[in-house]
Amino acid sequence: MTQHNDVVRESFTTQAKAFASNPWVTNEERIRRLVASARLQGNERVLDIATGPGYIAEAFARAAREVIGVDLTAAMLAIGEERTKQNGLSNVSFRMGDAQNLPFERENFDVVVCRLALHHMQGPRRVVGEMTRVCRAGGTVLVEDIFASEHAERAEYQDRWEKLRDPSHVRVLPLSEHLRLFREAGLETDAVKTFDDLCPEVERWLATTKAPPERAAEVRRLLEEDLARDLSGTRPFQDADGDPDWAQVQVTGLTVSYSKQST
Ligand SMILES: C[S@@+](CC[C@H](N)C(=O)[O-])C[C@H]1O[C@@H](n2cnc3c(N)ncnc32)[C@H](O)[C@@H]1O
Repeated sequence: MTQHNDVVRESFTTQAKAFASNPWVTNEERIRRLVASARLQGNERVLDIATGPGYIAEAFARAAREVIGVDLTAAMLAIGEERTKQNGLSNVSFRMGDAQNLPFERENFDVVVCRLALHHMQGPRRVVGEMTRVCRAGGTVLVEDIFASEHAERAEYQDRWEKLRDPSHVRVLPLSEHLRLFREAGLETDAVKTFDDLCPEVERWLATTKAPPERAAEVRRLLEEDLARDLSGTRPFQDADGDPDWAQVQVTGLTVSYSKQST
């Protein structure tokens, strides 16, 4: 296991419970939208990588034959396991594993999905390669993530506050890089959808990772600057009464479905 994997595990063990109850994670409409883009027939075997608390795995299990959720962090997997058991689902299982080195044979799944996790990976190219390897020819690879500005210095500004808030953050990719990674893995792009409804409240978002006070203060300062001077392209905003405690980060999201061709 790499050093960064230890940082990921530590961060997501600390935030597991709070993360799993956040509205931007549990929102059913967003989850439904992602599952719908896989256009399931009902007989699919699905892999959800970096499944976290398993909401995506659970939603796929309600519409597909079998789902496996893989993650590095035991505390996250335990939440998914407990909830799906309580909900009486018997076609979903969870296991520990590294998305950069998936513990499966090639061509094992009809659908391989990854939500909100590529920006935590040191080797996103390797992860995309692994997703492609374990997907069968004719299958679907589905990714949902935030995306950054195409301008390097604006993207770096976003990464600064993301890393202060959560040391497991590596880099938000711009849209063009997302698409290039998948194209270079040999996948065909079927559909690209962007949306800007991922708007966590700043204080809740900071509380989720239990960011220490001095780091949280620096994040607020960077966001205030961003709000005033449009430095990252994420367009933070405040509600109508301008209460600074209620500033939000508006993060733009991306869903892309790709297919793996047989020739
Ligand atoms: C922001 S959470 C997203 C969880 C879930 N996909 C969702 O959308 O609700 C990121 C997850 O990625 C996992 N993760 C990060 N790097 C990983 C890796 N290399 N392999 C497997 N899981 C990883 C973390 O443990 C964490 O559970």
